[in-house]
Amino acid sequence: MLSIGDLRERLSEIRLLGTKQNIVEAGFVQRIDWDGSRVEVDVVLPPVSAQARQVLEQDIRRTLGAFAEVRDVQVRIGGGDRVKGQGSEFILSGVRHVIAVASAKGGVGKSTVAANLALALSSEGLRVGLLDADVYGPSLPLLFGTRGPVTVTSTQRLAPVEKFGLQLMSVGFFVEEEAPVIWRGPVVMSLVRQFLRDVEWHDLDFLVVDLPPGTGDAPLSLLQLIPIAGALMVTTPQSVAVSDVERGIAMFQRVQAPVLGIVENMALYECPHCHTTEELFGSEGGQRLERQFGIPVIARIPLDPQLRAASDSGEPLPVQTPGHPLVTAFRTLAQRFLERLAASDVTGVPIPTIIN
Ligand SMILES: Nc1ncnc2c1ncn2[C@@H]1O[C@H](COP(=O)(O)OP(=O)(O)OP(=O)(O)O)[C@@H](O)[C@H]1O
Ligand SMILES: [Mg+2]
Repeated sequence: MLSIGDLRERLSEIRLLGTKQNIVEAGFVQRIDWDGSRVEVDVVLPPVSAQARQVLEQDIRRTLGAFAEVRDVQVRIGGGDRVKGQGSEFILSGVRHVIAVASAKGGVGKSTVAANLALALSSEGLRVGLLDADVYGPSLPLLFGTRGPVTVTSTQRLAPVEKFGLQLMSVGFFVEEEAPVIWRGPVVMSLVRQFLRDVEWHDLDFLVVDLPPGTGDAPLSLLQLIPIAGALMVTTPQSVAVSDVERGIAMFQRVQAPVLGIVENMALYECPHCHTTEELFGSEGGQRLERQFGIPVIARIPLDPQLRAASDSGEPLPVQTPGHPLVTAFRTLAQRFLERLAASDVTGVPIPTIIN
């Protein structure tokens, strides 16, 4: 039979966001009550962000709920006056880490990378969501071959659409196909804010956010709403202009989020006949960026007609052709990104590691 000691030991695997010690060691756990089916935990915290409180509550529920004997977990969190976290206006409920995928220019494969990164993380057994935050050109409905419908939960919130193991949400689920999205400026932001607040993500390790292209107002206002753990910039070799990346870094600096890696998309071309790969635009661009900003190119994704065809068909490549070499390439990308995220440690929430 499970003892309070067992429960305490398991709680000592949990850290509070932004701290290094576990919650038992740090003295935050005041009381554990266990009657053989229901466990009650009282925690008292120093001042922390609302996100830290919420993540901690989720962590305790999930960790103790994993014991078969535990039927019910009650968590009471005292203390911890709310402080604003990471410059963001509010938290996304049910999300541990937000990863932003951005690009200085449109059409460089940002949505393709975001979707395949999300699928790669999910194939490692992590719980992953994908938010298509590109209000003017939502592409998630096409990439995943779904237009919802989005259902409303009993608490009047929006339930993400589940497909291919991911939790999906897109502005595209709410507009007619082919209909032009005519929202502008402040109207868009108030709608997006409402939309972000209303989605009920279900216990995600990672939420991958496909940002609107560019480094202007549209992506920046979104970033000010969401706390970002780390960002990925997608470029094509032609556009690996230092000025682009500089603008991207500056945008993320404004919201205190690190750019952890660069993905060079459409970087190589493999001849379909002789299978030799060619660098269409050389590789100096990425090396230059790495020298100048210390941000590594964590993946170079070749130009591949099958990737495009899969995206257009509504069945992403890992679903359509799981053995395709690019599926492995995206898994390596995901792994490198997590390594960079763990090293940057801005959130304090342990980053899951992928073990090969
Ligand atoms: N490595 C690749 N090989 C072949 N085609 C690709 C590759 N990456 C992306 N594409 C294709 O290029 C087009 C643009 O990609 P995608 O929609 O992902 O770009 P984006 O940066 O999100 O664009 P937007 O700025 O419009 O949101 C799509 O048709 C996609 O399938
Ligand atoms: Mg896109």
